Amino acid sequence: MTTPARTPSGAVAFYSDFDDFETWKKALQAQLPDLRIVHASAIGDPADIHYALVWKPPAGFFDRMANLRMIVNLGAGVDSLVRRDDLPRGVPITRISDPNMSRMMAGYVLFAALRHARDIPFFEQAQRAGTWSYRHPRAPEDVTIAVLGLGQLGALAAHELQRQGFRVIGWSRSPARIEGVECCAGMDALDGVIGRADILVLMLPLTPQTRQLLDRERLQRMRPGAALINVARGALVDQAALTDLLASGHIGAATLDVFAREPLPADDPLWGMPQVLITPHLASVALPASAAPQIAANILRVSAGGVPDHLIDPARGY
Ligand code: GLV
Repeated sequence: MTTPARTPSGAVAFYSDFDDFETWKKALQAQLPDLRIVHASAIGDPADIHYALVWKPPAGFFDRMANLRMIVNLGAGVDSLVRRDDLPRGVPITRISDPNMSRMMAGYVLFAALRHARDIPFFEQAQRAGTWSYRHPRAPEDVTIAVLGLGQLGALAAHELQRQGFRVIGWSRSPARIEGVECCAGMDALDGVIGRADILVLMLPLTPQTRQLLDRERLQRMRPGAALINVARGALVDQAALTDLLASGHIGAATLDVFAREPLPADDPLWGMPQVLITPHLASVALPASAAPQIAANILRVSAGGVPDHLIDPARGY
């Protein structure tokens, strides 16, 4: 990407509790050296803000930003932005669409799937008990992995999994094609896909249609002993049902990066389950150096009166 010569008017406001402001500022200014970027805590006149680079900003964040021209969601999933009721009308919202972010996610999914496919949670528990417990490895082609959600992130994860030799089934609401992956589409196909998986991977956006999609009944359709990996959103799943089914052993193990409530409360029973691996919502994160060029290009596009790339549809929810 060549460094654009023009400097857009107005300033960028930054808000995230998880991402480092200085790193983002440096990455964006490497693209647009004269761009003014202010942390949310240092906004002088809100009317000066033309662009907002945000991850879960507090309620009222956009109030009085009368000249806002674009909101950039500092991540892939936009569910937390689109469901709020204080969004300025008509201001385009974009998401980050970064191959490196997809690769980071695919790496996590690959790690988690391989861990389950090779029964590593079983060996971890055996080691803690000090027992030499032999369990014969399964060949990858004997392990069926279903990936629910075949957007940019899900499609790459499905592709990487099939490269490992697993039998991979992909499911999405509308038809998709991924080489080497059996792709199924539509609600009619969902329960069948869930019932065939040894490892079920959730990579769906959270929308009104997908909220609690994995309810108790669907979770019960999982094969006895199958593993669940959720790297998408906690609210896709009935977490109480998941906990019960893990406790009963119907679901054999889980790798959970996302939860109904985050941080996961200290007294949640999931913490104490040895067959559950918990990570604090970081399977993939927005990468400043990698994402800055597309954000800068979008800022320039909008400042020239154009339409930004990677627009999301607030009505659709992704
Ligand atoms: C993280 O959860 C993201 O949506 O980018």
